[in-house]
Amino acid sequence: MKDESQSLGVLVLAAGKGTRMNSSKPKVLETLLEEPVIYYPVEAAKAAGFSNIAVLVGHRGDRVEEYVKKEWPDVDVVWQREQLGTGHAVKVAGDWWMQFDNIMVVNGDVPLVLPQTIAGLYEKHVRMRLQCTFMSFMLEDPSGYGRVARLADGGVRIIEDKDAVDEERMIHEINAGVYVFSRDALAEVINHLGRGNEQNEYYLTDTIPLIGDTEGLVDVVLCDDPNELLGINTPMDLAATADALHRRILLRHMTNGLKCMDPATTWIGPRVEIEQDVFLEPGVQIWGNTRIAAGVRIGAHTTLRDVSVGEGTVILGPSVLSDAEIGRGAEIGPFAFLRGGVEMKDSSKVGRFVEIKKSVIGEGTKVPHLSYIGDTNIGAGTNIGAGTITCNYDGSAKHRTTIGEGCFVGSDTMFVAPVAMGDNASTAAGSVVTKDIPDGALGIARARQTNIDKWYDRKSVENQHKKDSGES
Ligand code: UD1
Ligand code: MG
Repeated sequence: MKDESQSLGVLVLAAGKGTRMNSSKPKVLETLLEEPVIYYPVEAAKAAGFSNIAVLVGHRGDRVEEYVKKEWPDVDVVWQREQLGTGHAVKVAGDWWMQFDNIMVVNGDVPLVLPQTIAGLYEKHVRMRLQCTFMSFMLEDPSGYGRVARLADGGVRIIEDKDAVDEERMIHEINAGVYVFSRDALAEVINHLGRGNEQNEYYLTDTIPLIGDTEGLVDVVLCDDPNELLGINTPMDLAATADALHRRILLRHMTNGLKCMDPATTWIGPRVEIEQDVFLEPGVQIWGNTRIAAGVRIGAHTTLRDVSVGEGTVILGPSVLSDAEIGRGAEIGPFAFLRGGVEMKDSSKVGRFVEIKKSVIGEGTKVPHLSYIGDTNIGAGTNIGAGTITCNYDGSAKHRTTIGEGCFVGSDTMFVAPVAMGDNASTAAGSVVTKDIPDGALGIARARQTNIDKWYDRKSVENQHKKDSGES
């Protein structure tokens, strides 16, 4: 039950130094399945239906701000110039969150949190009229995290790892770093945090006893999946989180019908969409905004990035395809390399050891072997002979080649761009085409062959002479 009369702002904390990552990058821009860590909590908030979102940036914040603005123009950016802890982070964002009735705070380094989990947390907060509601989970090895201590009087405290005494360190219930606060309660306590702790920081977690002590109501929601709330503080955490996400994404696609020969070596990014009856051989990687239609088969060790693949297309591996739109029933590979804006129309074919860049391959057109096609438009039903090259670069600028419909391009043709070939035209094998070829014509651009008769006999006589005169 969502209370529409109340407004919610989601503040994602992403200003911290991430010291334990030992990296020159801000922690939230480390990559997790080819997306920055910060992508995940923001997308979860959006998928939960929350529209007022801000990301708090600070350490190397210009880079984080640049990413956020490019990725989500509707997400606000708030600055924390000096990083004095999570409590300080929420405090400096006060001007932003004062406009909402409730504020959800999500640590930017908790990427696997699910939309339904945060939606459920908010729903409970509103339904039970709580002042602060936060997520916890159980971990066998809770070291590094804040422990949730449930007190005898029903109260609750969060004790940071570095401040905990031995007995508290034994607690396995930990704070996930995902909270909902009622604005008035948060506003009342946020200026009263101290930094008398081991890390000399203002802890957001210290708001909880303050809210409790001012007759507020605090509750904890225990999440039963420990992987969902893993935080990323070290490179080991990053790898463990990637592993959990890898499994989650594959499970989702396989539940929807994906057939995957070897899930352990198959990697699929979070934005990828796959229709029914798709089959993946081992070692396939699918990243970015890739869409795979029904009945597609992708061969071993193929990588796709930002590609749309039409129904029934077969890609033999290994092949590498990026920024490409492939029609239905196409055939690709093995050892095909497509990049930089390629369009392959229905039933076209790009075969072995062929590189295609920024080109259109017409319907039913075939480029079966050993070719480079760059900055080129090829019409429908054309056959490109083995070893054809479009010479698109003159040393300073790129130029286009145009090849018409129904053409026959002889093997080893060089198109020196800019150049055009009309419909139903042909080239002779080995031609270096520098002039346009009209419709229906045959372009021959190579030296005429001369045969020298009795060459073998002449050579034999010469060699005998050399031998007789002692030359070697
Ligand atoms: C925090 C919690 C801990 C919890 C854990 C869950 C506190 C004091 N501790 O610890 O109880 O178990 O998360 O993962 O909150 N950040 C800022 N500005 C700052 C400091 C941090 O924006 O000045 C951001 C960081 O970029 C990060 C998040 O806040 O995204 C959490 O900071 P981090 O230093 O990772 O806190 P933890 O030690 O993990
Ligand atoms: Mg953390």
